[in-house]
Amino acid sequence: MSYTSPQIIAPPPGPQAQSWIHRDDRYISPSYTRPYPCVVERGEGVWVWDVDGNRYLDCSAGLAVCSTGHCHPEVVQAIRDQAEKLIHMSGTDFYYPAQIELAETLARLAPGGGPRRVFFSNSGAEAIECAFKLARYATGRQKIIAFYGGFHGRTLGALSLTASKPIHRKGFAPLVPGVLHIPYANCYHCAYNLVYPSCKYACVSFIEDTLFRYETSPEEVAAILVEPIQGEGGYVVPPPEYHQALKEVADRHGILLIADEVQCGIGRTGTMFAIEHWGVSPDIVAVAKGIASGMPLGVTLARQDLMTWPPGAHASTFGGNPVSCAAALATIRLVQNRYMDNAKQMGERLMAGLKTLMSRHACIGDVRGKGLMVGVELVRDERRPDPDLTQRVIERCFQKGMLILTCGKSTIRFMPPLIIEPAEIDLAIHIFEAALSECKS
Ligand SMILES: Cc1ncc(COP(=O)(O)O)c(C=O)c1O
Repeated sequence: MSYTSPQIIAPPPGPQAQSWIHRDDRYISPSYTRPYPCVVERGEGVWVWDVDGNRYLDCSAGLAVCSTGHCHPEVVQAIRDQAEKLIHMSGTDFYYPAQIELAETLARLAPGGGPRRVFFSNSGAEAIECAFKLARYATGRQKIIAFYGGFHGRTLGALSLTASKPIHRKGFAPLVPGVLHIPYANCYHCAYNLVYPSCKYACVSFIEDTLFRYETSPEEVAAILVEPIQGEGGYVVPPPEYHQALKEVADRHGILLIADEVQCGIGRTGTMFAIEHWGVSPDIVAVAKGIASGMPLGVTLARQDLMTWPPGAHASTFGGNPVSCAAALATIRLVQNRYMDNAKQMGERLMAGLKTLMSRHACIGDVRGKGLMVGVELVRDERRPDPDLTQRVIERCFQKGMLILTCGKSTIRFMPPLIIEPAEIDLAIHIFEAALSECKS
């Protein structure tokens, strides 16, 4: 069934939502970050319904997870078929076909080609933990370079690599030692917090000119961990030569390059892996979120000659369970055959539409992204980030029937399911502009 518009029958939060939120408040960890009171009951394609029967256009895709939309029939069927046969056996101690088939598929798809091996876990943070441990193990080196603005998860290892917001780290010290943070694609850290392509390599040369000169010897560095497009940090797209330059620095010093594709991978940017836009072959790739359309799955893909650790060195009871693997196989098939191209085309339509809004709204400081990973940065006088306006706009979008989230200091991120159609893109732009017009002062 396709719908042409949201439907708000009980202004949210309606009575049912209020009652659920009251119960949630009593029992759920207050560390969750709900930006507005949306209590979801069901989803279908790009639409979700709340417990009061309101229908929303979902431009969040459950935090970039529901890549094939909510409850895609082929994914549901794959889950159902697998669940009827085998739900769990633990790939740590036993073999099962779904896991092997998925590993073969991913090794074939890995960016850069060459033989690969796969480790399965349950989340983005776990995929990063594996990459971190493997880099240390394979190189015998301890240190790892990560970036300001980077988000890699909240387990202690992943958190040590994350430098996106102080609240993520506050109170959890001591973190894992050996992490060196440097500026990302410099542009994000410029005075106006906007992307300036002229910044190009400043941060890449920083590694050799500053870090290796004053702080650490390159022989101590196991890996550079980078998001091809920074996600939580503000949907920052580095300049065209950036990742190539980073890879050259890494290769010069025998350092591994790890691509965190947890948010940008699996077709979202119009290529299977976002790093393909830069023609770079990372040594290790971490994937999660969109790979299994909502079933929990983390994947760490590594060069075969790196993943040589012995039995017991790393494992996970639930990682790569049969049902998640079946969902991932169905997701990858759909993304490859249909939705990756759609993400590219719909992304271009979305970017073009949002860019036209810039001439009408001075508070839009920048529109950037690739495929269906698009950020709109809202600014105020002298083009400073405007987080208050950003929050007001996403709340207004919610009241108008569209779910959308923020990232960075004041960026609104469009990350709809990859199945989205032209009319729904136009609708998203329309709702966004209406919300913006009502909220800007
Ligand atoms: C780039 C990136 N890496 C890692 C993670 C952590 O993933 P998870 O929340 O599944 O642990 C996230 C989550 O937002 C992410 O965006």
